[in-house]
Amino acid sequence: MTHKVAFIGLGVMGYPMAGYLSKAGHQTKVFNRTLAKAAQWAGEYQGEACDTPKQAAADCDVVFVCVGNDDDVRSVVYGEDGILAGLKPGAVLVDHTTTSAELAIELAKSAAKNGNQFIDAPVSGGQAGAENGVLTIMCGGEQSVFDAVAPIMDVYAKQMTLLGENGQGQRCKMVNQICIGGILQGLSEALLLAQKSGLDIEQVVDTLKHGAAGSWQMENRAVTMSQDKFDFGFAIDWMRKDLGFCLNEAERVGLELPLTKKVDEQYAELQQDGLGRMDTSVLFKAVAKNQK
Ligand SMILES: NC(=O)c1ccc[n+]([C@@H]2O[C@H](COP(=O)([O-])OP(=O)(O)OC[C@H]3O[C@@H](n4cnc5c(N)ncnc54)[C@H](OP(=O)(O)O)[C@@H]3O)[C@@H](O)[C@H]2O)c1
Repeated sequence: MTHKVAFIGLGVMGYPMAGYLSKAGHQTKVFNRTLAKAAQWAGEYQGEACDTPKQAAADCDVVFVCVGNDDDVRSVVYGEDGILAGLKPGAVLVDHTTTSAELAIELAKSAAKNGNQFIDAPVSGGQAGAENGVLTIMCGGEQSVFDAVAPIMDVYAKQMTLLGENGQGQRCKMVNQICIGGILQGLSEALLLAQKSGLDIEQVVDTLKHGAAGSWQMENRAVTMSQDKFDFGFAIDWMRKDLGFCLNEAERVGLELPLTKKVDEQYAELQQDGLGRMDTSVLFKAVAKNQK
């Protein structure tokens, strides 16, 4: 069954995700702040580039968003040219941006006031996951709304789970980011020891990756870390935004997250060194520098 859908935000993640919707036969409209990118998308895929989020949302059954941070989401949702101004009653808003849980709850209330429903649906899997249509999607919202949008999101997903009410999708994404930070800290320390001990990193990875220490980060990042290659992947500027959500949430529930704090501090140092757009695996540089 095909639907009328819109996708707002054609960045690293949104561009291919919107492409999957179009390729699945959904009648797809897109909006991007830099309009040229939307025009480029419409040249590559079947679909219509719109000048405002409102135009894109008009007459759609579902509108997907994937922009940067909380305020970026607000800037496309609210206002006279925003999504809510264009959405028809009963239509669903789905936010794939990684945001605070507070924003998810706020958007659910705003959507309800407008006669619409909302699902927070942050993703994991990175650029490759989006391009290959194999993202993990962590959702918060009502079961019936999730059931309605899941078959549509399925075109770019490998795993979709409804974790509870609005905000729980974003909280699950926080758990994901805490795990990534901890794994990268451990991997960085392990690689330093391996290098200092004269081990061959590729051989180490080939040996360990199928054992209990194996991880996506080890398989995909250990070798490039040891080769000082970081100019790709998930930028630490985005990761610091996400770790900020994690630390705020921890404070809210009365938890200390010492490792997450340490990782965040090291990313802050790396940002000051001008490495904000480098991949999160650049943590290795900070761990190495802090040895001296
Ligand atoms: N990249 C990853 O590996 C990855 C993985 C998982 C989750 N995420 C999350 O997914 C979201 C998007 O990431 P991305 O890598 O696709 O980012 P990106 O490549 O930087 O793209 C961001 C998109 O948001 C738009 N945007 C930003 N601020 C806006 C505003 N104020 N008003 C309207 N549009 C705005 C940008 O428009 P312009 O083209 O005009 O700049 C662009 O289309 C982030 O929340 C990120 O944390 C990313």
